[in-house]
Amino acid sequence: MNDFQFYSPTEFVFGKDTEAQVGTLVKKHGGTKVLLHYGGQSAIRSGLLDRVKRSLSEKDIPFAELGGVKPNPRDTLVYEGIELCRRENVDFLLAVGGGSVIDSAKAIAMGVPYEGDFWDFYSGKSPAAALPVGTVLTIAAAGSEGSGDSVITKEDGGLKRGAGSDLIRPKFSVLDPALTCTLPPYQTACGATDIMAHVFERYFTNTTEVELTDRLCEAVLLTMVRETPRVITEPDNYQARANIMWAGTVAHTNIVGVGRDQDWNSHGIEHELSALYDCAHGAGLAVIMPAWMEFVYKHDPLRFAQAAVRVWGCQMDFENPEVTALEGIRRFRQFLHSIGMPVNFAELGAQEEDIPRLVEKHGVGTGKTGGFVALSAEDIAEIYRIAARASV
Ligand code: NZQ
Ligand code: ZN
Repeated sequence: MNDFQFYSPTEFVFGKDTEAQVGTLVKKHGGTKVLLHYGGQSAIRSGLLDRVKRSLSEKDIPFAELGGVKPNPRDTLVYEGIELCRRENVDFLLAVGGGSVIDSAKAIAMGVPYEGDFWDFYSGKSPAAALPVGTVLTIAAAGSEGSGDSVITKEDGGLKRGAGSDLIRPKFSVLDPALTCTLPPYQTACGATDIMAHVFERYFTNTTEVELTDRLCEAVLLTMVRETPRVITEPDNYQARANIMWAGTVAHTNIVGVGRDQDWNSHGIEHELSALYDCAHGAGLAVIMPAWMEFVYKHDPLRFAQAAVRVWGCQMDFENPEVTALEGIRRFRQFLHSIGMPVNFAELGAQEEDIPRLVEKHGVGTGKTGGFVALSAEDIAEIYRIAARASV
């Protein structure tokens, strides 16, 4: 096991109707003027936004509003948000929505106290300060409610890039599983795929003797395998929604990744797909992650076989663990297909002829990237090709 620091300062408030506590939580964490940031229609339609406003008003907390965050959030709205916060003297960002809204709020939070262009933080610079962020989560997926990450797409040129800092870890996150019951099955499945991908990015590691972290990863994965089909057929199943919501947060606070090297190639490779085609991040991962697994499993067949046995219930072939490893990958892709996820480029709406462009935008150049298996540009092109032609 490697040495590590684990920092997760977020106050998670979990359960039915917990959004009624938002006003109290903002006050507790020092907010006196809020920017209420949200997405398209879902939070308005469900009445959630009105309930959040009521909670703020009950605590006499004034707020400005900025809606309209799109999935794969754009820099253009971030600039608007930064101006609005400065004009209105906002000192607290409240994101009501999914990963896209939360990431947009985090970008604004870094941008307000910064004199330069906030995009600097998505090009490698670390922020020195950020306004505090709180969240009311409406989809179990990206894990942004507990992470120090934010991913934004630059409209001009379609670059999708991430920023990371402990300064943007939310002060609090309200997790009411009932809010996720209005999710359509496709969005539910995209979220489930992302949650599983966040675990796999950490599970496939070259670090040895990380038994507890392995077992925590497997617990999250097994929970997702059990609960996801339940909410696809019974969208109002509160208990299953609750297990998935907590799994999504646990998958990405890094509690399942400490003490080990991590990979993250599948995410980098996927981000180019959602940047180019504006598809859902989880759907892109459903196509990329099994393809990545097929490309790299020979690096450590026993680790893949371990996942196959412990997560997918495969029989271990001690003579030839590669057979077990491949069967586990096959079952993963089959599972994703069974919950309605795409398995190849055609089903995702991507084109094989775009592969050179995707690789170029990915920007690995002549170097290599990834913590489990370091990949070159040609390796990444091959993973896109496997993904393009995959079938179940
Ligand atoms: O805009 P509205 O109308 O709210 O609709 C949203 C959106 O269309 C809808 N939705 C959300 N909650 C709902 C709902 N519909 C009905 N009922 C509800 N309760 O779902 C759609 C997707 O929302 P979005 O916020 O885009 O989903 P997600 O949470 O998957 O976020 C995806 C973004 O997060 C990034 C992704 O790259 C992508 O841009 N990621 C962020 C990470 C982080 N900050 O740590 C890590 C991840 O790996 C990921 O890269
Ligand atoms: Zn993800």
